[in-house]
Amino acid sequence: MTESMTTADDRRRGRYIALEGIEGAGKSTVANHIVARLTDAGIDALGVREPGGTGAGERIRDILLDTATELGSWGEAMLFAAARAQLAAERIGPALSAGTWIVSDRSVYSSLAYQGGGRGLGIEAVRAVNEAGLCGVWPDLVIVLRVDPARGLARQEVEDRIGAEGIAFQQQVADAFDRIAAQDPDRVVNVDAMRTVGEVVDEVYGLIQQRLGSVT
Ligand code: TYD
Repeated sequence: MTESMTTADDRRRGRYIALEGIEGAGKSTVANHIVARLTDAGIDALGVREPGGTGAGERIRDILLDTATELGSWGEAMLFAAARAQLAAERIGPALSAGTWIVSDRSVYSSLAYQGGGRGLGIEAVRAVNEAGLCGVWPDLVIVLRVDPARGLARQEVEDRIGAEGIAFQQQVADAFDRIAAQDPDRVVNVDAMRTVGEVVDEVYGLIQQRLGSVT
């Protein structure tokens, strides 16, 4: 599958929802529940995660998360963008064209917050690099699950190269997510994730119904 096979018009048939947040916010759990609820509502829904989701992307993921990898901030940002471009071209773009809804555990918004904010590369500079590779495959709705950085780090199951950066880094990432949400309130919505899974899932699903429609 090549990028040229996906046109902008085709792409509008499905919807692309991204779950975001710092470490330990519960994105994966919520994403699984949302895929199940969309499926129950008769929608063809597919869960994906970043970085990864393709053959090349999973290999890039290993490099990115391995604590033994030595990588500068731009090298890191470019590898995340490369894995993401492949996922968009190979899976997300074609799925949206076929009318499938995508529920993604992380997205380009993680790069804006972690590399743009946390690493200090600048949100706009990181956005530009990613836009080039995504060719218009961009989330329609971004839900940021907000959790206290100390509590989030404590909840983290396996510490990877980026999760190992510690609390000050997590706080910078959280601040960047807040700035991004404030700048684009039509697309990016905060949800308090310091509650039970059921409460968080209900609020996220309600937002999807409200913002994207055609969901019962
Ligand atoms: P993952 O195991 O998916 O972590 P989590 O369970 O927290 O989602 O690892 C992803 C790590 O990579 C996480 O620390 C966040 C970071 N990351 C970035 O820094 N930039 C990005 O663009 C993405 C997608 C992830």
